[in-house]
Amino acid sequence: MTTEDQRVLLLVGSPKAPGRSVSEALGCHVIEKMEARGWSSRTIFIRASLQSDGGQSTLLNAASNADLILLSFPLYVDSLPAPVIRAMELIAEHVLRKNARLVAIANCGFPEARHNNVALDICRRLADAAGLEWAGGLALGMGGALSGKHLRDQGPMAGKIIESLDLAVDALVGGESIPDEAVRRMARPIIPAVMYTAIGNFGWRRQAKRYGVKGKLNDRPYQP
Ligand SMILES: Cc1cc2nc3c(=O)[nH]c(=O)nc-3n(C[C@H](O)[C@H](O)[C@H](O)COP(=O)(O)O)c2cc1C
Repeated sequence: MTTEDQRVLLLVGSPKAPGRSVSEALGCHVIEKMEARGWSSRTIFIRASLQSDGGQSTLLNAASNADLILLSFPLYVDSLPAPVIRAMELIAEHVLRKNARLVAIANCGFPEARHNNVALDICRRLADAAGLEWAGGLALGMGGALSGKHLRDQGPMAGKIIESLDLAVDALVGGESIPDEAVRRMARPIIPAVMYTAIGNFGWRRQAKRYGVKGKLNDRPYQP
């Protein structure tokens, strides 16, 4: 099979609207680079596609035709968003291309990338269950510092991320798994952790003020 015949399917696992999520920005960078290497691509937003029978069959058909499925998602409660798990369960029940592969990119709000590790292990298990070859995963922390804009428009913060994704693309188009160096670069803090936490705290306080609950930030309503 020539490179021109190769198809990559980007599944965006964030429930945010198109153009708004870090998951989409990360996935789109990979897709563009793969297209430049002769691959054809398709992008599907999981939440929207599961909301109709037509959307669901479009997703399953696209998965059946893909040589590489790229799942890019936000970490939700140390796991994958529920629609992403549902989509992967549906895909696992479907006939897929021989030797098709799954690769995953997880991004989380905590500063440390390692919070994504369990979710990436779940993805590896889902790949096994679906009969997909696991091509590896990338974990990014400090997702709250990024936006849905194209990575090249997100300034120096995106530098290491772009380097990591470019290394990953090189490996994936060559039929290899994501290299350790790509995993390391993606896991590096994009700004100092103290700065990220300070900006995060400022953001929480500003939102609390806007919604009139500034004095309630330390409440513990579920504490027995
Ligand atoms: C319901 C919900 C649960 C979340 N759970 C976690 C979590 O367990 N750990 C974490 O580090 N971030 C968590 N986050 C933060 C998101 O992972 C983070 O904001 C991410 O960058 C969003 O990516 P997106 O723009 O692709 O949706 C959670 C966010 C939401 C809305």
